[in-house]
Amino acid sequence: MAMEYPLGAEKAIEIRDLKKSFDAKDYVLNGIDLAIPKGKITVIIGFSGTGKSVLLKHILGLLKPTSGEIRVLGRNLSEMDVAELTEFRQHYGMLFQYAALFDDMSALENVLFPLREHRRSMPKAEMRRIAMERLKQSGLDEKHYHKLPSELSGGMRKRVGLARALALDPDLMIYDEPTTGLDPVLTEMVDNLIVSTHNLRQGTTSIVVSHDLYAAFRIGDYIAMLNAGKVLLTGTPQDFLNSDIELVKKFVSKGVHKA
Ligand SMILES: Nc1ncnc2c1ncn2[C@@H]1O[C@H](COP(=O)(O)OP(=O)(O)O)[C@@H](O)[C@H]1O
Ligand SMILES: [Mg+2]
Repeated sequence: MAMEYPLGAEKAIEIRDLKKSFDAKDYVLNGIDLAIPKGKITVIIGFSGTGKSVLLKHILGLLKPTSGEIRVLGRNLSEMDVAELTEFRQHYGMLFQYAALFDDMSALENVLFPLREHRRSMPKAEMRRIAMERLKQSGLDEKHYHKLPSELSGGMRKRVGLARALALDPDLMIYDEPTTGLDPVLTEMVDNLIVSTHNLRQGTTSIVVSHDLYAAFRIGDYIAMLNAGKVLLTGTPQDFLNSDIELVKKFVSKGVHKA
């Protein structure tokens, strides 16, 4: 099913007939066709276990397709070797459900880490300036910069994780269930942070996997719903509200009731 983009919209990601089987028997992804427009927020929704995280791992090049093609920023991932993929991943910023910070490093050191790894020739003072700027953009108060993750609240840890994801100026921001397990106040904070982060730099593409339809409506320019290894529907939030597809209606009514 074609996504109704503005005509000629540039695509950050193009996926064609992507199939993935882990056991040569059942296909978790069974023919995914999906285009993700550049510069927009696309929210991927779907019931639990429908392959959303598996799809993200393919986009990240962490899993290899059984068949099909994935192009990211014009590059075909299957044509890259491990070293090229590792290099290419600098275009991505990732924030997962658990921010997965380094426990023995301060907030600031966590954000410095990718810079030290990938910007080896950058002067130390410049790294520090960038790291502090990202922490500020993520809304962490300066008095927390030198604290360990264990000394920070859940919300603050999310901010540090986001700042670290932004360290290398990614073209693509990828969030996998960033608000799962958070209370409503924190959920709204993280949703708002995703939008403000997206708007920091023009042209950034954001992909958010969520089981939260309410969030999808609030923050998504486009929504893609996965089901049974395929893309069931793509479109604007309005397209989802207007859809006649039974499963979409089910998901929408569930989300609307929750909201
Ligand atoms: N590495 C793996 N090996 C085998 N099966 C996997 C692996 N990763 C995910 N799966 C299976 O793929 C299906 C989709 O998982 P996932 O993408 O995590 O779902 P969700 O939509 O909830 O993110 C699940 O049935 C899961 O058990
Ligand atoms: Mg998942």
